[in-house]
Amino acid sequence: MSVQTEVARYDVRDISLADEGKRRTEWSERSMPVLRQIRARFAKEQPLKGTRLSACLHVTTETANLMITLRAAGADIALCASNPLSTQDDVAAHLVRDHGVHVYAIKGEDHETYYTHIAQALAFAPDMTQDDGADLVGSLHMIALNRLDDLAPPIRRWVESLSTDERRALVAGVRGSTEETTTGVIRLKAMAKEGVLQFPIIAVNDSDTKHMFDNRYGTGQSTLDGIVRATNLLLAGSTVVVVGYGWCGRGVAMRARGAGAHVIVTEVEPVPALEARMDGFEVRPMADAAPVGDLFVTLTGNIHVIRAEHFSAMKDGAIVCNSGHFNVELDLDGLARIASERRMVRNLVEEFVVKGRRIMVLGEGRLINLAAAEGHPASVMDMSFANQALAAELLAKESKTLSKSVHRLPAAVDQEIARLKLQSMGIAIDTLTAEQVEYLASWDAGT
Ligand SMILES: NC(=O)c1ccc[n+]([C@@H]2O[C@H](COP(=O)([O-])OP(=O)(O)OC[C@H]3O[C@@H](n4cnc5c(N)ncnc54)[C@H](O)[C@@H]3O)[C@@H](O)[C@H]2O)c1
Repeated sequence: MSVQTEVARYDVRDISLADEGKRRTEWSERSMPVLRQIRARFAKEQPLKGTRLSACLHVTTETANLMITLRAAGADIALCASNPLSTQDDVAAHLVRDHGVHVYAIKGEDHETYYTHIAQALAFAPDMTQDDGADLVGSLHMIALNRLDDLAPPIRRWVESLSTDERRALVAGVRGSTEETTTGVIRLKAMAKEGVLQFPIIAVNDSDTKHMFDNRYGTGQSTLDGIVRATNLLLAGSTVVVVGYGWCGRGVAMRARGAGAHVIVTEVEPVPALEARMDGFEVRPMADAAPVGDLFVTLTGNIHVIRAEHFSAMKDGAIVCNSGHFNVELDLDGLARIASERRMVRNLVEEFVVKGRRIMVLGEGRLINLAAAEGHPASVMDMSFANQALAAELLAKESKTLSKSVHRLPAAVDQEIARLKLQSMGIAIDTLTAEQVEYLASWDAGT
């Protein structure tokens, strides 16, 4: 049974922005040599021919290059945003006009529109999905488990217009999905543990060529880029509090130090806390860091890591932002409760007055690198999206034999992506000699 329902072909801000989107997408393409090679092979081999793919990703120039690659592989695509503030409207227009992608995404869309767009991507009746944060797959599972009250109202209204058989067919039609980010993977692993996962997932984030580079160097650079664009803050001489020392936190701490900031790390796990200390950063609990930080950046994937008691201890002029996936890391309701005044003082900068002290929150607490800058540089997304493209190919070929759990791409794929990236950078490495191969495989030679 087909469940595809009548939806608009696209919903973007202004289709006449397509020329600019094309120019900027082509600029990113120059820094994506690995994806370009995969595209050339896909165009010949058509591994996604006949695939209906719904993607929920940040609609950036790099994502456009992934979409163009998947189109070259033969896929039909619906694309919605994975964050209300991360869409680049010119890119959305370009994908619609020049590549026939059904894009449903507008920068700054309200909650209602954000979820209407996810419903439109679901109404495309995909047989494969791609997520960044598991919003699309999460909704599909609420439908599968008949937990309609847990769906956002626009999605629930659409689902209620479907018959029970149509809802079943919608979920049963999905062969598999890929997930881009840490937060999404955590959710999907929790679903697998509860035994509710309906189809196999490939956790792109778990590839070494994804999290070691995208999360660390991509987030490290683009988060500071977003903060500087939003505020024009001088990092040199400032005290930056990095909340969470995972892959993303390591990157932000490293780059903030490079810009001359004094960096304090807060953590809840002893091992990353120790690593931060031995990397040369000061480590303190948030209660101690709150009164001394000039800039706070959360990168934990956790909820309410900065709360009212911390906001009320901050000094006048403190800047607070988040670069973790969801806008739950800052307790903004708690801040609003203790603030005597709030107003926008600059684009994407909201000032709250707490006990006479001004605290600035950037980008509504949403990922600041996408809200105020352009997200990660294309060169790093080259590897993340090479993983996405190869994960889609793997699902197209092997979804029937994959269990309904969360999988990694094979290590050989990771190594091949790294090899191609090195090659594109003109970097050669050594190969093992026959003697070395034998030595490494033995337990009794050369002791
Ligand atoms: N901005 C971006 O473009 C971007 C890119 C990649 C990932 N992400 C997101 O960033 C977040 C972090 O990703 P990651 O790969 O670094 O995850 P990670 O699991 O490697 O690191 C998270 C760290 O936060 C720590 N933590 C948890 N709760 C904390 C608390 N209350 N206080 C202090 N530390 C705490 C954990 O112990 C862990 O060390 C996720 O939500 C991920 O989806 C954002």
